[in-house]
Amino acid sequence: MDLYSIVLFVHIVGALLLFVLLTVEGVGLRAGFAPASLNRVLGPISALAILFPGLYLMKAQWGWTGWVVVGIVTWFLIAVAGAGTGIGVMRGRVGKRAATVSWLVRVGMASGVVFDMTVKPNLLVSVIAVAAGIALGAAAALAGRREVVTT
Ligand code: HEM
Repeated sequence: MDLYSIVLFVHIVGALLLFVLLTVEGVGLRAGFAPASLNRVLGPISALAILFPGLYLMKAQWGWTGWVVVGIVTWFLIAVAGAGTGIGVMRGRVGKRAATVSWLVRVGMASGVVFDMTVKPNLLVSVIAVAAGIALGAAAALAGRREVVTT
């Protein structure tokens, strides 16, 4: 047991929390409630628990590898899109359909980052993994829309 493994644990707990919050958000979209207060408190905690330990791990062992850079950019995009969607829904500026697309794309991006973090590929493959997650999320949103239209 060393400091590195404890920091990695905190980083992974932050990532698990992100997926818990995404799940709660998805259930809320389906059931028609906005989990705003929960996500407003735990969202930033999860984001910080991912970022600062992640920076430590990077500095301690890995440096500016492609998968780390893609992880940082994607982390930022998930945080901005999540906060923007949450605030937009609360103010009535973002509808259920747009919120669902945003949610599915963020689930796809986060899954792509988990691939990058575990496989640690080069920059190109890291970008492709996140792009594939985005494409799958968008495709799921499109399929969901068709289902609503045809039923
Ligand atoms: C949505 C964002 C993120 C998620 C879901 C995530 C998830 C993970 C997971 C699950 C691991 C464990 C992989 C393993 O042990 O095999 C990991 C490792 C790692 N993460 Fe992240 N991460 C994210 C963002 C970041 C960011 C922004 C940074 C850098 C600032 C970062 C740096 C690292 C490093 C350096 C490791 C390697 C640790 C090791 O294998 O020893 N991560 N990440």
